[in-house]
Amino acid sequence: MTHQVPEIITHLRSVFTKKKKKKKKSETCLEKIRKMSRPITGGLAFLGLILMSLTGQCFGALQMGFYKGKCNSADVEEIVFRVVKARFLKDRSIAAALIRMHFHDCFVRVNGSRSEKTSPPNGSVRGYEVIDAAKAAIEKVCPRVVSCADIITIAARAAVFLGGGKWYEVPTGRRDGRISLASDVDLPSPSLTVTGTIQAFARKGLDVEDMVLLLGGHTVGVTHCLFVQNRLYNFQNTGKQDRTMNPTFAQLLKRRCPRNSNGGTPIPLNANTKNINQMDNSFYRQILGGRGVLQIDQEIALDSRTRGMVKKLAANNQDFNIKFGKAMVRMGAIEVLTGTKGEIRRSCRAIN
Ligand code: HEM
Repeated sequence: MTHQVPEIITHLRSVFTKKKKKKKKSETCLEKIRKMSRPITGGLAFLGLILMSLTGQCFGALQMGFYKGKCNSADVEEIVFRVVKARFLKDRSIAAALIRMHFHDCFVRVNGSRSEKTSPPNGSVRGYEVIDAAKAAIEKVCPRVVSCADIITIAARAAVFLGGGKWYEVPTGRRDGRISLASDVDLPSPSLTVTGTIQAFARKGLDVEDMVLLLGGHTVGVTHCLFVQNRLYNFQNTGKQDRTMNPTFAQLLKRRCPRNSNGGTPIPLNANTKNINQMDNSFYRQILGGRGVLQIDQEIALDSRTRGMVKKLAANNQDFNIKFGKAMVRMGAIEVLTGTKGEIRRSCRAIN
């Protein structure tokens, strides 16, 4: 782990206290992509065609293979894949980091100093250096052509694939935001109710199924004791542990996260610790068994609106992997800037 513990504690604490801001929603085109991509089970190429025609109308330039022929003869997606793979071979946990970064970048605008990146829920997002490396490799071939937003999207797809998930096509053509404010960050807290979380996703044009699928991202990666301590020792100020948590699992977590510890110890998000970097549906089986680590993860296995979906995903790894990629594409279409809006950043760390 490369995290600085005191920093993590500070930002993690404020995740619980953070007020949510309402944001205007205007995702009618995303809605269309969602509706049209669902019934397709057979061919990503077909999905690509649909997205291309849809995004032609909806997002201006967002389309499959947007950079083909725009970066001399280089294949931008291949460059990003190569950079991510090189890092993955040294540190497999980078896959989880990049998948999470994609979520944060889609829900907000993560890049930029004194920006959204510095807001508390984004504090433990890691992997920026991989994005920097991919950006540097691309800038060498075609300066100021490829956006950081697209690099993050392509890197997340590489992470899913390298982690053992299914390859999916990603539409590109995003441009980078010129505004990045910590106060704009509207990420759901892990202790938000299922209703609140459904609403948070709905504000971004994503539905309940998207939410259940995307939370499957928690099949990989880590959280920290701070996020589970209240569930272990004082759930909702009862002085007791969360009754929805499997008692044997609670004992295990208590050993890892003793009462009054500083909360900075990393713990896997997926109770199936055999391989915490493996993209598969094991997360859903764990939460059905009461072994969800984050409160929201546990709750989707119990809530009548989501339990059926969780059970289906738990039963079919192939189905999960296909649908997860499609949900990532839908998430990647949230509030994108295309055409002449925004900019192509020189550095992913700062607005030009
Ligand atoms: C209601 C929505 C969500 C909540 C409340 C949530 C919450 C969290 C929290 C609290 C952590 C641990 C942070 C830490 O301890 O430093 C985390 C990690 C993670 N999240 Fe989520 N998350 C949500 C949605 C998503 C989505 C949509 C994805 C991706 C599709 C995702 C992927 C990840 C991954 C991969 C990690 C591990 C990162 C790592 O190991 O560095 N999350 N999330």
